[in-house]
Order: sequence, then C-alpha cells, then structure tokens
Amino acid sequence: MTHPSLDEIVSVGEASIVESAPASLDFEWFELNGVRLRLPADPSQRLIDHLRAGLRRFGTKEGCRQGDCGSCTVLVDGEARYACLIPVGQIAGRRVVTVEGLAEGTRSGSRLQQAFLAHQAVQCGFCTPGMLTASAAAIDAGRVTDRAGARAAIDGVLCRCTGYRKIVDAVTEVGCGAAARRCTAAPSEGPSVGVPLTRLDGPEKVDGSQRFGADGYPADSLFLRAVRCPHHRARFTFGDLAAFVDAHPGVHRVLTHADIPGLNAHGVATPYADQPVLAHAEARHHLEAVALIVGEREAVAALDPDRFPVEWEPLAPVLTTADATRDGSPLLHAHRPGNLLIEGQVCRGDADAAVRDAHYVASATFESSFVEHAYLEPEAGWARRVGDIVEIHSCTQGPHPHRADLARILALPPEQVRVVATAVGGGFGGKLDLTVQPLLAVAAWHVGRPVAMAFSREESMATSTKRHPGRFVSSMAADADGRLRAVIFDGEFNTGAYASWGTAVANRVPVHAGGPYVIPHYVARSRAIHTHITPAGAFRGFGVPQTTMSQEQLIDDLASMAGIDPLEFRAMNALRAGDSLPTGQILDESVGLVACLDALRPAWREARARAAEFNRSAPGRIRRGVGMAAFFYGCGNTASPNPSTVRVGVRPDGTIVLHQGAVDAGQGANTVIPQIAADALGVPVDCLRFVGPDTLLSPDCGRTSASRQTFVTGRAAFLAGAALRRRLIALAGARADARITADASGIAVDGHPLDLLTRPVDANGYAVAAEESFDPPTISLDASGQGSPYATYAFGAQMAELEVDCESGRVRVLEVVAAHDVGKMVNPTLLEGQIEGAVAQGVGMALMEKYLPGRHDNLHDYLIPTVHDMPRVRSIFIEAPTSIGPYGAKGIGEPALVPTAAAILNAIHDAIGVRIREAPASPDVVRRALAGRNESFGH
Ligand code: FES
Repeated sequence: MTHPSLDEIVSVGEASIVESAPASLDFEWFELNGVRLRLPADPSQRLIDHLRAGLRRFGTKEGCRQGDCGSCTVLVDGEARYACLIPVGQIAGRRVVTVEGLAEGTRSGSRLQQAFLAHQAVQCGFCTPGMLTASAAAIDAGRVTDRAGARAAIDGVLCRCTGYRKIVDAVTEVGCGAAARRCTAAPSEGPSVGVPLTRLDGPEKVDGSQRFGADGYPADSLFLRAVRCPHHRARFTFGDLAAFVDAHPGVHRVLTHADIPGLNAHGVATPYADQPVLAHAEARHHLEAVALIVGEREAVAALDPDRFPVEWEPLAPVLTTADATRDGSPLLHAHRPGNLLIEGQVCRGDADAAVRDAHYVASATFESSFVEHAYLEPEAGWARRVGDIVEIHSCTQGPHPHRADLARILALPPEQVRVVATAVGGGFGGKLDLTVQPLLAVAAWHVGRPVAMAFSREESMATSTKRHPGRFVSSMAADADGRLRAVIFDGEFNTGAYASWGTAVANRVPVHAGGPYVIPHYVARSRAIHTHITPAGAFRGFGVPQTTMSQEQLIDDLASMAGIDPLEFRAMNALRAGDSLPTGQILDESVGLVACLDALRPAWREARARAAEFNRSAPGRIRRGVGMAAFFYGCGNTASPNPSTVRVGVRPDGTIVLHQGAVDAGQGANTVIPQIAADALGVPVDCLRFVGPDTLLSPDCGRTSASRQTFVTGRAAFLAGAALRRRLIALAGARADARITADASGIAVDGHPLDLLTRPVDANGYAVAAEESFDPPTISLDASGQGSPYATYAFGAQMAELEVDCESGRVRVLEVVAAHDVGKMVNPTLLEGQIEGAVAQGVGMALMEKYLPGRHDNLHDYLIPTVHDMPRVRSIFIEAPTSIGPYGAKGIGEPALVPTAAAILNAIHDAIGVRIREAPASPDVVRRALAGRNESFGH
C-alpha cells in the first residue's frame, strides 16, 4: 500500500479520505470517524490541534485547553477523552470518533442527537459536541441505566446555558431505552406562537456543523497573539520591535497603539469610549493588551512571550473602591475625579423621615462578588479586507453597535466595515463589548491577508467584563400592619478600569433597588468607581441580581418583625396594575407579580411544611430551609432609545426571507423571532428562509441584551410581518383575513397565485417587502430619577428549598420553583430553558462564584456549577400581556436570574437562622456565620 504524504491528506481538507477503515491499524495511522488517516509528524501535537487546525474538523470545540470544561471530548476506542490533553502519539492505531462521526461511529449517537433536539437540551450549542460524545461513551458501555447514570456520564463536561436538566432528560431517555420524545415541528395551520417549537437552528448544533468564532477562518489566515501586561498596573516601553520580527521567522508584524488608524478607544456609549484597543504607555489592568503579534499559526504559537521586547515598570494599583476613592489615589482617567465613573439616583417623598417614623425598620450592609460569565466559547473570530471593506466575523452580541465602534477605530465610514456574527457560544452580556474584533480589524487592515484570533481561557477570563462586585447599605421600613413605607439604598460598584456598562448598572440599579413593591418614600443612589481590575460590565441583570440579594433579605426581615409569612408579606406589598414606581411611572398593565405569588403559594406551603418536618424528625448537622425572592425588571435599555428593525421580503420566485439581526447566543432568537414574524404574516414558520445578523445583509436589531430581543425585535418582526401581509393582500385585492400560502410554486392569496416574476425588484432583490422598526417608548429620568425608564417590566418570584450542612458549611439546593410573568409564552420550552440555565447561574452566584483578578483565570480555580450542583427546577408561567409586546410577550433572559440567589440566601437563613450578608455563601462564609450566630438559633 502506498501511503500518501501528510500534505496530500491535509490538502483535501474535509474530504481527507484515504481509504476505508481497515480491520486493524498500524502505528503510523489512526482512524477518524471511520476514515483511515496518517498521523502527523509530531507525536506531541495535541489531538485538538490536529483535528481543528490540521484537518479543519471544527466540530470538536476548544473551551479551555486545560481539561477543565470538557467541550473537546471525543471518543478514543469508545472511551470519552479530552482532545486538548491527548498527544496525537497516543492515538496511533486507535479509533477516534468526533461529533461529526457520532451517528455512524457509535450505537447511541444518532438517537442522542435526536433526543437533544427533542428535549431542547441545546442552547448555544458550544458544549453540545462534548456532551454528546461523553454520553454516547457511557450509554454504549451500558453505564446509563437511570438519571444518576446520565448525570455521571456528563459530569466531565460543563454547560453554562442549560442548567443541565434537559441534557440529563435526553441522556436518560436514550440510556434507559425509553420511548423517544418527538421534536415539535412548525404547525402547518394556525399560530406557532405558543407552540414549543423545536429550535430551528438545532440540527447544526448537534451534528457539529455550526460555526463559532474560532471555526470558520480561511485556510490562509495569519494568526494574532496579544502581548499582555503581567501586572495590575504598569508603565511600559517597547524595545526594538523590528529586530524582534526579523529574529522570528513566520512572524510578519508587530502592531502597537501607533498602528491604530483612527480612535484608539471603544466603549458602549460614545462619551464613555475609554478602553484602548492597545494600551499606550500605561496598562490599567492585569493582562491588558499592549501589542499584537501577527504571523503564521505555528510561529505565533511557538513564541516565548517573555522574550518580547517590552520593559515593565509596575505601579501601585488601586483594587478596591475604598482605595480608589481615598484622597490622593491615582486617577485611572484624569477627567473622572475621585475615580467616579457615574452616579445615578431615584428619589421620591421623604425617605429619611419615613424610616425614622416607621414601626419596623430592617437595615443591613451586603457585599457581592466579582462574577465571571464563563461562557464556554472563548472570544474568537477572523477578519479580512475585501477591497475597501474590512469584514469581521466573530462571536458578538451586537453586530451593528460593534460596526460603529470599529469604524471609528479604523477611521472608516461604517459602510466600509462589515460585521458578521458567527454562532455565539454563550454571552450573557460578556460579548456585548469589543474583545477580539478591534484586534482583528486593525490587523486585517494592515497585513492584506485574512487574520484569525481565539482568546485562550486565561485571556478570556482576565480581560472580558464581569458582573460588578458591589457594596450596598440599605434600610427598608414598614408600618405596624406590614405595609412598606420607605427604602433608603446606597450602592457602590467596582466598575474596573474602563467604563464598559458601568453606566447602565449605575442607572438601572436605583430604579430597581426597592424591589417590586409599592414604596411611597424612596431614595436610591448608586455609584460606579474605577479601579485597576478587569472592567466590570453587563452580566444578565445589570446589577439587579446583586441588589436583589440585599433587598429581599430585608423584606424577609420585615416580614419576620411583622409576624407575617414572607410570601403573604410580598403579596400584600406587591405592585399591581395602576400602582406607580418610585420613578413616578404608572404601571397601566402587564403586572403579573400577584399571580406569580398565587401560583407559588401551594409549593411554598408544602416546602415549608416539608422542611419543618425534616428538621423536627432529623435533628443534626443537616438543616433544611425554604426561602423566596420576588423581583421586577425593566425590559430594554434604561430610559434611552433601543430600536430594532426587521425586514421581510418575497423574492420573485415566491421565497419569503426574514432578515432578523438579533444575535442568538443560545436564548432562542433564531426560533422565537421567526415564530412571531410567521404568525403576523399568516404563514407557517417553515415557509420562511432566514438571513441572520450581518451588518451588510440585515437591518440593525440592536444588542442581545437587557432582555430586549423577544420584546423589541419581536415587536419589529410582528410589525414587519403584518406590513408584508397587508401588501400581499393589497396586491391580490383580497380581504384582510385572506389566507396566504407559500410553496415551491410561489405565493398565493386565498388560492390565487400572485405573479411576482413580472414585478420590479427592490435593491434587496424583493418583489414585495416590508421593513419595520420598533423602539420601546420611554421617558428620560430627570435629576431626581423621575420618568418612565422602561416601556414594560417583567415580574416574578422564585422559591428555593435547600439543605445546609452545619459542620462543613456546604449548601445543597434541592429544588427551585420559578414563577414568571412573561407576558405571553412564545415558545414554552425555550422559556423553560432560560429559567433552568438562569437557576444554574444563580446557584453559582449565591454559593460558589468569586473571581479574583490574576488568580482565577481558568475553570479549575474558578468554579461554576456542574450537573451535580443542580437542583430540580420547576417553571410556572404567568401571562399578563403587554399591549406593546409581540402578542403580549416580554423578556425572560435576565428576569429568570434576578431572584435566584436572593431566594437561596433567604432559604439559608430559614435553615440555620443566620443571615449571610455576602455572596457567595461558600462553605467558609457559612461556617463563619454559624460561628457568630446568636443564641436565638433553632426552630
Ligand atoms: Fe451548553 Fe451553551 S448550551 S454551554
């Protein structure tokens, strides 16, 4: 047999078939998905690199390169192994199966892929290849015979989106040979809104063909590597960069701040664009980028960063808000005295007097931690110049806003910058900011070849934004019968080195700091303070989950003082339609909090009785407790415009195309927006073809943030679908309730075909089209915080049941029941998925997650919940529709997370009788609280 060279094999890329698999393999070969391939020359090369860079098989994902996340799990002779840890020398003569070959290469793979789709066990899809291969290995080995076996099968793979429950459902079904759950197809008649439609983009997530930021780069790309500051703060000077390039074959160029064609700054709002693409003279946080090396992939990867010609002069950093606000502290930005980025406030009535005169007053100081997004996909992308246009393909939560920033950086008009969103492997707010994009754009502008970059896990964690750590001093007061009278709140957030979304947090928090209650007297103030740590930014809730942990513990304290059950205390004080917020905004409609509390009441009473009985019958180190938290959350940006525009067009051949630029980071916009548009147009969802987020091809749908896509883009999709329907009906001269059908033969109205072939087409190639925008109506807040900052609000409440081990301090959450007013359920199963994923993040925030800059830049020191940390989750949906939402729908992405950690902290108090005034309530914090508890403990 003649062996082709490695080059010959690699050159045919995806079709690198040499011959069919032999009965036995020798040690120069291995088998990949049934195909015999020659091993690469270097036996120490990691399998992940050979699969992805060598063979361009991108189905296997790289999430950490350290064996922590499991995203790269493949099968080697049927055993689940991490491809990032295996040198290819170890696979000589062995059979490797990746997600691309799972259906044929394993007994259970095909059924698992179907089960993942049918159970909606997939959100962003980044962990999915690893989940599928790990579970296939366990099932084929007979190790999955129950749910415990299913959990064990995937416990080496992390998921940040789903909360694991639906994954365990799918794995259990296949492992136990249960009847297969069927996917839910788009209905051919009647509305699809309200139907738990199987994710339209699901198939590509389970077969490995979905392309994320690191997957689609052109084969001739150069690669980028950032030079980063090893200190929290340092001045720096470069040595001889030209000599460095000359001394390193394969390195093409080094770029510094001097190579930025335009503005060396970006940020989420123009006045706060303060973050450099490449720092100049002084770095303000650990691992901030100061230079960029461009070169061939192997050459760049092999560089020793310690030999880069840069001299560091470490400077004393300020790391806490207390240090940053001290007289004489160094200013991070000269124009921000006191390191104050921004402050916000909402004032109503006379809160000081009301607290002074109140019958009950609860006061406390609460501190929350720096929390990492820990999406499984590190930031990645590629870019190239196409004529005068720079194209940037990357994982982003906001293509159009990124284009505006990138155009300023490149000193180009926006039309010369094209931003294309790849699949996004989780975002949660962390991919709202620019990360790899400006580095890619500047390099592509200079080098004339495509460039690619993927952050390492360390770079991702050290440089991407986080949840703001905060310190909250607050008092809540009630009268003798338990009616809330006043709130006084003062919050200080550590916003890190640059503005990012610190402005949004400082503005949103004062509106929400009292919770979803009628509060006649109110003063809430917040400040965002700069320090020399990684910038804090947007993370699912913009500060509200942190303040809810503080506020909802005080609500429980007041309920206890008044001798009222915590749920009934909340119900008595809950906002109802017609009530006004401390901002003066009247809530006319869509206020479903009381209905949520009513829905929770049976579960609440049962859980309380169950916990009391457990504690009575089993006195000892394990104590059970039940807690709850309620919330409200404004959907959309705070008192500022945030429009979305959606286009729907019909090509001359009758094909209907939906352009929706809302990034689906796993939450389901690729399914929910089509459901809404199809219903408004009056056709089944499967009549639509899609164009996704691409600044050249789709109108601006704003950012995937602030729980705005279903509400805002959904409304724009509704309007566009309805407008197109009117145009088609007018063209046919039919009645408003006419039936529109679309098939291979074209469009028909009430059975009469429309002749579109003879109509002129517009600039987008459509014979008939509609483009509509929606911007939720808000009124700016005045100096005292009066106005209507959001057009609608989500409401809800969650309860948590848990056990505390009083010796170890460990907390185990048993169940979370979540009741949410979503306005209208567009896709019930996707809604459930949002809640289950949010509960997982809430468990992490409440009990384990605390990021320390420079110490926690990996997923073995920074812990996020695994499948074994997850409680049961029960979702209850209330529909209190908003008249301006699509079919009444509001947002769920952030609301789902807001109350979880607060409910857990209240449940800990219920279990052990002591308050935890800091998050996370890690075992040491709980033990410390127990050690200091007063003598009144015991119930
Ligand atoms: Fe698991 Fe996103 S679906 S990480």
